[in-house]
Amino acid sequence: MPCKVIVGGFWGDEGKGKIISYLALKDKLDVCVRTGSVNAAHTVWYKGKRYALHMVPAAFLHEKCRLLISAGANLHVAKFLEEVDATNVKNRIGVDSQASIIEEKHSNQDKTSAHLKGLGTTGWGVGPAIEERVRRTAKIAKDIPELQPYLTDVATETNNAIDAGKKVLLEGTQGLMLSLFFGTYPYVTGRDTSASAICSEAGVGPTKVDDVLIVFKAFMTRVGAGPMPGELTKEEAAKRGWFETAAGTGRERRSAPFNFELAKKAVMVNGATQAALTKLDALYPECKSTREYDKLPKEAKQFISEIEKQTGIPVVLIGTGPEALDIIDRRK
Ligand code: IMP
Ligand code: MG
Repeated sequence: MPCKVIVGGFWGDEGKGKIISYLALKDKLDVCVRTGSVNAAHTVWYKGKRYALHMVPAAFLHEKCRLLISAGANLHVAKFLEEVDATNVKNRIGVDSQASIIEEKHSNQDKTSAHLKGLGTTGWGVGPAIEERVRRTAKIAKDIPELQPYLTDVATETNNAIDAGKKVLLEGTQGLMLSLFFGTYPYVTGRDTSASAICSEAGVGPTKVDDVLIVFKAFMTRVGAGPMPGELTKEEAAKRGWFETAAGTGRERRSAPFNFELAKKAVMVNGATQAALTKLDALYPECKSTREYDKLPKEAKQFISEIEKQTGIPVVLIGTGPEALDIIDRRK
């Protein structure tokens, strides 16, 4: 801290929501800025309750955290209002006046456009909404009556907070392998998902960032079409306890073992300085809910060392269960 960017290392669903909710509570974040759009669901578990957040920043658990939706984001009005209600954050959430709006027609276009067929998009309409923004015909937040109480200048608020030494987190969505620039094109999302793009969407320059925290899951998953090295059959995934369904769309996730080459590339392109590793308990069930590194079995420690050796960055946070606080924190 003060300014940390969080990004996904693979195809999204690495557990960014969990890591952000932990940091929010543990580090008492002052500001959390969400980027991206409604296609990405960030799952947060706290005191047995599950939240799958498509719009509200995942740091909402810390009641003093200012929550912001950036100018580069695409906002789904109904989903935003629904989540603001469910998380009770009305008095501390702000939306940039220039965030663009994703509409029902975009979702229809997403599901029916010939050029998107076969990509396995989430169907929310994010690609078509971005196309509309690029055509300069999109609605933006300041055009929407229901959003008037929330409007703010997110870049100014965020930079002021950083300059005042506050703890600011820029919440990336999805993962590098879904990046429009660096992912498995054309099987990608409609935007770059790297740390630089997250900064750009938030309106924070690269000199203001202290850390880039990349989140990896202990195995890889992917929803939608496109290549995935080492992909397992559904039966094999289930046998290993790796079979998942998507938090947002309920679709089945494909899975594969952790890939060190992809991890190295993701660390490089993101300029990552630290890593978080989630779901270690899926690989080593005896780790479940452990909060002490020393209690990990030897093989789990070896796996972590191997990630550190190959990527050249420390694994500072290790997820051992779904709850926000099921974390081994190795930071000083
Ligand atoms: P779109 O972003 O809805 O256009 O979908 C493009 C590709 O990105 C599809 O393969 C989706 O499954 C994938 N995708 C988009 N958002 C997420 C996410 O948050 N998690 C996982 N996959 C995603
Ligand atoms: Mg997700």
